[in-house]
Amino acid sequence: MTLPDVVATVPALRERVASWRGRGERIALVPTMGALHEGHLALVRRGRREADRVVVSIFVNPKQFAPSEDFAKYPRAAERDRALLEGLADLVFSPAPEVMYPAGFCATVSIAGPSAGFEGALRPGHFDGVATVVSKLFIQVAPDVAIFGEKDWQQLQVVRRMVRDLDLPLAVIGHPIVRDEQGLALSSRNAYFSEEQLAVARRLNGILRETVAGLGAGDWPAKLAAARQAVAAAGLGPVDYLAVVDGETMEPRDEPSGRPARLVAAIRLGPVRLLDNMPVPG
Ligand code: PAF
Repeated sequence: MTLPDVVATVPALRERVASWRGRGERIALVPTMGALHEGHLALVRRGRREADRVVVSIFVNPKQFAPSEDFAKYPRAAERDRALLEGLADLVFSPAPEVMYPAGFCATVSIAGPSAGFEGALRPGHFDGVATVVSKLFIQVAPDVAIFGEKDWQQLQVVRRMVRDLDLPLAVIGHPIVRDEQGLALSSRNAYFSEEQLAVARRLNGILRETVAGLGAGDWPAKLAAARQAVAAAGLGPVDYLAVVDGETMEPRDEPSGRPARLVAAIRLGPVRLLDNMPVPG
């Protein structure tokens, strides 16, 4: 097994990508902010199935954090991340902030539509930061496919919309949420939980699964109200949102519309906002 090489500049990245392209190889990109866990590794394995080469970007993107958020203390573990990618990724692209955003940088990519509401409302500017860095990564790496986790469902819809609207020449693949043995969606921020908080956090999955099962019988507003009560009774909360949305546009739904729908939730627990989502059957 070999450790992936790490490049920190765009010319070095492009040189490697060009050599693969010259051999007719397909390239997958897995964008990350590091502090890798099994969820990220599942994305990288998916990348291996979809392409000949996998580039993992590791960049804690300052533009998607509000000043009040955890940018400074977001977990960083470069050597550990590289070791986890041994035999899985071909290349790690890990630019310094001044490489991604050189002095004078003043571009913003802003995608309306699915950015509105939910995370977009609670974290103003967040999706502009995501769209800006992801579009830069797409241009820098020029992959055939990019793999994103479905855990950040709204982010995935924003990226899909951006690729469609800007005619970016790549396919975006959403990969199912990876959960621990008790159903908690894996996240780098789970590292902030105490043992007690982790036990409480693990109750969310069961509540969402029961809610989704109940939605089949109709009366979505009552089912969502019951879910909020169950969340509080489980010691979770406050609830930032717990809603059914159109699976693509992120518009709220209170009854079936004939289009794919998604139950989305953001629940606060101690230092973490727990994000989770599930498809609504039918
Ligand atoms: O999901 C993430 O880790 C980030 O939002 C992403 C897509 C790497 C952009 O910084």
